[in-house]
Amino acid sequence: MCGIVAYVGPKQAYPILIKGLRRLEYRGYDSAGICMLNDVLNIYKCRGKVADLEEFVKDKHLTGTIGMAHTRWATHGEPNVVNAHPHFSENKSVAIIHNGIIENYASLRSELINRGYHFSSDTDTEVLVHLIEDILIHEKVPLEEAVRIALNQVIGAYAIVVLSKKSPDKIIAARKGSPLVVGIGKEEFFVASDATPIIEYTNNVVFLNDGEIAIIKRNKMLRIKTVGNKEETPYIQKLELSLSAIEKGGYDHFMLKEIFEQPRSIRDSMRGRLHMDQGLVTLGGIRDYEQKLLNAKRIIISACGTSWHAGLVGEYLLEDLARIPVEVEYSSEFRYRNPVLSEDDVVIVISQSGETADTLAAIELAKAKGATVLGICNVVGSSIARATDGGVYTHAGPEIGVASTKAFTAQVAVLTLLALLLAQRKGTIPVSRFRTILGELNNIPVKVEQVLKLNNQVKEIANLYKDVTNSLYLGRGYNFPVALEGALKLKEISYIHAEGYPAAEMKHGPIALIDEQMPVIVIATRKGSYEKVISNIQEVKARKGKIIAIINEGDVAVKKLADQYIEIPETEEMLVPMLATVPLQLLSYYIAVIRGCNVDQPRNLAKSVTVE
Ligand code: AGP
Ligand code: GLU
Repeated sequence: MCGIVAYVGPKQAYPILIKGLRRLEYRGYDSAGICMLNDVLNIYKCRGKVADLEEFVKDKHLTGTIGMAHTRWATHGEPNVVNAHPHFSENKSVAIIHNGIIENYASLRSELINRGYHFSSDTDTEVLVHLIEDILIHEKVPLEEAVRIALNQVIGAYAIVVLSKKSPDKIIAARKGSPLVVGIGKEEFFVASDATPIIEYTNNVVFLNDGEIAIIKRNKMLRIKTVGNKEETPYIQKLELSLSAIEKGGYDHFMLKEIFEQPRSIRDSMRGRLHMDQGLVTLGGIRDYEQKLLNAKRIIISACGTSWHAGLVGEYLLEDLARIPVEVEYSSEFRYRNPVLSEDDVVIVISQSGETADTLAAIELAKAKGATVLGICNVVGSSIARATDGGVYTHAGPEIGVASTKAFTAQVAVLTLLALLLAQRKGTIPVSRFRTILGELNNIPVKVEQVLKLNNQVKEIANLYKDVTNSLYLGRGYNFPVALEGALKLKEISYIHAEGYPAAEMKHGPIALIDEQMPVIVIATRKGSYEKVISNIQEVKARKGKIIAIINEGDVAVKKLADQYIEIPETEEMLVPMLATVPLQLLSYYIAVIRGCNVDQPRNLAKSVTVE
């Protein structure tokens, strides 16, 4: 999610705020805004980049020593001026900026409308600022108390800053699930999503914890309270990190940061959609098309690259669980081969960027032939999101590294939710089976965390294979797309030729490649056709091939055969891709780093292929 900056102190706030937004640019965004607090709150916001906001306000001579600014990564409501932050309360006495997702915004919104509040935006955020105002009016409490009471009614993730014209020297900030840092300078305070906007002014920072509210008052000591109304002593740390290191969250590359973000991004992709308590899956963005999907003669998934690999997992999921025929198409092929399509077909396009030209063209073709087109996108308001009839956002947050990682696992998580939703509606799996898979899916973020702990072990393996020139990735069933994805990761960032294959296909040709120079990465988790995969491993060993195996914890049989192995937790067969892909992401990352490759911007590649 995007960027937050706030300031109160003796200096003019505007230069600090706008420079702070520029520091957060790496987080990606679609619109930006700023609020200055003098006698009143003045808000200026626009669609586009921070530079567009600067242009927009340049003749407005923004003065004042307290204010806040925001770059938005939209989750609810198109990226446009109205939905850009900050947002005013009804009577414009309070303003808010927010990073995160308010899951129960719909119910809060209808309640507030019943109380006479008017909404000017489509965002989830706006419910919070009206709620705070409502509490200030009725409870007659200080601003921080109104914020605390409001946050007790919120379900979801937030990092917020609130200003009120009735508290001209006060900044209230709070976080839960989205990061927020308070910088403590000499008679001045800073608040930001991370330390990059703060570090040039002070290295004394307090990293807010989930459920904490920072109460900042000009020339006073910082106070911290929990949403549960408990006073906390601020833990002030001295930051030694360099600016560039902080942008990457302390990681050496965005790609590594994004690999490690996957527990959070998978959780966010399921937030407000996987309801364990009710044993339910809801996908609001396709609610109007559920019947269309249930009646579909066929689902065609169209995508490119990593998104195509996610689509392949989607095929296995939808056919396995919901028993709906699925075909997966490369958008670049689909758009030109004059496919047979009808109104009984549903096309699902998958795209991280939402701007891939071939996938956009596939949408136009499908719509021209009367098919319903749904999208699974990571960028709200992107061209693909706007071109489809409906869809589901992955909420993985900005993916900066050219090699897609967290977007893939988020796409697979959404496809799993979709398959479960349709399976439940169709009754194609027993309720008990549905609940088992749902519960295991809910646990996946924790299991990804466990896999990420193998980081150093993967690094050691990478060192052994950094100089190879070719490699083969093998998997069966749900792990076949994982083999393809692992091979794509390696080739696109380390420039080592890598091929993914269905393990059984080895005998139909690729086995001729096997010799002691050829590492074969095999996803050999115990589910599915595990025994057959062991045979494939033995075939490779018989020809002196090197085996790197992704196995389940404690799998002695494969350990005996493999030259190296990485043990991942057990899970349901259809959920393995979200776990097994992670060590392959790490393996490609470390090999590329050791080879001195430009991991975040590999040669010849672009993050979004907006040309044909
Ligand atoms: C994956 O690591 C690559 N960056 C590339 O294959 C990418 O997945 C492909 O270009 C599709 O992009 P999209 O998901 O933004 O449409
Ligand atoms: N959910 C809010 C919105 O869509 C905040 C998004 C963000 O984190 O930037 O406006």
